[in-house]
Amino acid sequence: MGIFTKDIKKMDDLFVHTLRDIYYAEKQIEKALPKMVEKASDSSLKQAFEMHLGETKNHVKRVEQVFKIHGVEAKGVDCPAIDGIIEEAEDVAGEVEDKRVLDAALIAAAQAVEHYEMTRYGTLVAWAKQLGRNDCATLLQQNLDEEKAADQKLNKLAESNINRKAA
Ligand SMILES: [Fe+2]
Ligand SMILES: [Fe+2]
Repeated sequence: MGIFTKDIKKMDDLFVHTLRDIYYAEKQIEKALPKMVEKASDSSLKQAFEMHLGETKNHVKRVEQVFKIHGVEAKGVDCPAIDGIIEEAEDVAGEVEDKRVLDAALIAAAQAVEHYEMTRYGTLVAWAKQLGRNDCATLLQQNLDEEKAADQKLNKLAESNINRKAA
């Protein structure tokens, strides 16, 4: 969020900047998820990651629609926060040998990603409404709902067998 901050003067600038932040983040997540599918051992976890990869591709498209409706160019800005979350996840996953422990690490990393997305979309929905852009808010809310559902699914997977078997 640090870059270009001098260009942010109005709420609208802040909205567009944050939209570009989540656009970049979604694209990084789209690249990271196939690696997580590959690393996951538990079949339900693999499936959950695959399903969310499909949803993530739609998130990118919805954010592009929001750019279009709002009349600004669809482009990303570097988001060191998501880069850090993904980098840390890859570091930790690279060090874990036990498959069940690795699954637990992957779930924890994925939940950190979902929570990042949830905070950004929560903010964007609120700002879109404030700016009188209910059309944008509706699209952003759809992404937010899917992030929440993905997070809840990961919670269930973590609480059911995966973490218990890892203990
Ligand atoms: Fe997403
Ligand atoms: Fe997500």
